[in-house]
Amino acid sequence: MPGAPGAQAGNAQAGGVGRARTAILISGRGSNMAALLAAAANPAYPAEVVLVLANKASAAGLAHAAAAGIATAVVESRAFKGDRAGFEAAMQAELERHDVALIALAGFMRVLTEAFVTRWQGRLVNIHPSLLPSFPGLETHERALAAGVRLHGCTVHLVSPGVDEGPILAQAAVPVLAGDDADSLAARVLAQEHRLYPAALAWLAAGRVRLQDGRAVVQDAEGPVAALANPLP
Ligand code: GRF
Repeated sequence: MPGAPGAQAGNAQAGGVGRARTAILISGRGSNMAALLAAAANPAYPAEVVLVLANKASAAGLAHAAAAGIATAVVESRAFKGDRAGFEAAMQAELERHDVALIALAGFMRVLTEAFVTRWQGRLVNIHPSLLPSFPGLETHERALAAGVRLHGCTVHLVSPGVDEGPILAQAAVPVLAGDDADSLAARVLAQEHRLYPAALAWLAAGRVRLQDGRAVVQDAEGPVAALANPLP
């Protein structure tokens, strides 16, 4: 049961054998997707990307994925206006067709229903460009600047039904510098996203993540987790 002491997050590698078959869901440029594909190009990486799925054919990341030899699919969310269940059923069919065990959201701009999230609980992970629980939602960099925070960053978390909620797997912090605007701050955060997401997905894919009292615990957290939690700018 998710949240129960000792509960395992996900069960991506059936019997502990093979790499976790992973789908990346995108809506746009796909730079986090590209970082995950680069990591997964190493056969020793515990996740294998078997599908990049976009909710719009215009998502720029699709071309990069196809060029990397990854299967791509589009389920047009616009075609399912007002029918989120239908949209998700079409996505679920693609995920099943590719025998997907883990889903990584990477700039996927659709809110998922509780039914979908529950079905994938513990096997559905997201990256968000703020230090959650601060600044869920959109325009995180603008809001961080307006709030005058001195540290900003990004979070990889397991997805729960609420938007930008769920047990935190990893965070990276960056300083907010005098003279920053949303673009310069976003670029500094994005560089950390590209480091953080491959590391956090690897922990999940390798079965190193447990849920305890609603929080994610990563096995052997002393080494890479600690280093990545507070990377130098
Ligand atoms: C990233 O900042 C990610 O954290 C957020 O959406 C943005 C997507 O960028 N969820 P990209 O498509 O990965 O380049």
